[in-house]
Amino acid sequence: MTTTPWSSRFEEGLHPAIAAFNASIGFDIELIEYDLTGSVAHAQMLAHTGILSAAEAEAIVTGLEQIRSEWRSGQFLPAIDQEDVHFAVERRLVAIVGEVGKKLHTARSRNDQVNTDLRLWQRARIDAIAERLLDFERVLLDLAKAHVETLIPGYTHLQRAQPVSLAHHLLAYVEMAERDRSRLEEVRARTNICPLGSGALAGTVLPIDRHYTARLLGFAGVSENSLDAVSDRDFAVEFLAALSLIAVHLSRLAEEMVLWASQEFRFVLLTDRCATGSSLMPQKKNPDVPELVRGKSGRVFGHLLAMLTTLKGLPLAYNKDLQEDKEALFDAARTIEASVEAMTILMREGIDFQSDRLSAAVGEDFSNATDAADYLVRRGVPFRSAYGIIGAVVKHCLGAGLLLRELPIDEWQRFHPAFEADLYAAIAPETVVAARNSYGGTGFEQVRAALARAEARLQAAVASK
Ligand code: ARG
Repeated sequence: MTTTPWSSRFEEGLHPAIAAFNASIGFDIELIEYDLTGSVAHAQMLAHTGILSAAEAEAIVTGLEQIRSEWRSGQFLPAIDQEDVHFAVERRLVAIVGEVGKKLHTARSRNDQVNTDLRLWQRARIDAIAERLLDFERVLLDLAKAHVETLIPGYTHLQRAQPVSLAHHLLAYVEMAERDRSRLEEVRARTNICPLGSGALAGTVLPIDRHYTARLLGFAGVSENSLDAVSDRDFAVEFLAALSLIAVHLSRLAEEMVLWASQEFRFVLLTDRCATGSSLMPQKKNPDVPELVRGKSGRVFGHLLAMLTTLKGLPLAYNKDLQEDKEALFDAARTIEASVEAMTILMREGIDFQSDRLSAAVGEDFSNATDAADYLVRRGVPFRSAYGIIGAVVKHCLGAGLLLRELPIDEWQRFHPAFEADLYAAIAPETVVAARNSYGGTGFEQVRAALARAEARLQAAVASK
């Protein structure tokens, strides 16, 4: 029978299937580095406050660091009978340093310990994901810089609406990524609070110094209420929500790349580095990367909902249900990190914009109809009347198989006498785009200014790392 810390209290060992059911070591081993770091700080605090002697703490810290190197070199592989990472580390510590190792858990419970580990883990994941988002933004900005004057059809309802600068389109995703990073920063601030010292639920009788431990661990402060501290997983929910929005944004871009790579659009060609072939159809080149990114968003949303559901009925304080938080968090963070990286690579070297095809596309539709109406507005015609006139012109052109630019001027004049030869320049795609010069619009001047602002913000963000 495996001995547990509570063997003296219990008559019988756990049923093996229940031991396996109860164990989290299979997944919470991901926390080991943070568990060790948290324990080192805890031991140092115990010495600082005189609860342990300096020699005792030193022996414990040395043992913990030995476990860290054993883990890193692949020698420390705790089995299922260790229940969780906290017990596994404690047991190994006692094996290494002997009796003094049993003093590590003084004034601590696994309840405040696991919350501390998770917060340290999450803080590191937030920093890593924010870093990846910066790379993603860098690639989008560079692409945008190269494509200020490349025009693409802009859509609403997936119907051609008005032409836009490709840079403007790409900068829309830079905006999303920036908000994603700022959301992560906000989550980080609420994550970066130390729960250690809350004990099982009520605090401890020993004269600990929680602020000291918090400082050692780089936390910005300590939690106020021990009951809340051990049962709070808001920070995890917020993290999953922030990750879900990243998934939404990546998935929207991914969907556009899938569409744009299709025969129907042909706005981009997939390079060989990021596409795959079919096992059956020799002609195929498939956009697996954006498809997978789009597909993976579902599991991240699922983890968010699972976490909310786990929490909603829990009485204070710790309940074992909370052990279910980890797999969701770990998988969501892994999924998003990999997805941001994959989309960064895809946008950098996985697609080639087809400039000829794009300029043909913006010239072959009626997306300059609003500008023909605006032409009349500038000549004193009320917008609603101008709208009606151009509607009639479009209908006529559709029947005649002509584009607006192909309709001779005398025919235009039959619809309204104010049309003159300068109309053709006014409805050319470049003019149409350039004219949308309102702040935040797609006019080239605005796009260049927006690019400069985005570049400055990105450089400031990189510099502040
Ligand atoms: N493995 C547990 C978890 O992940 C650690 C906390 C256990 N606490 C307890 N009172 N059983 O939540």
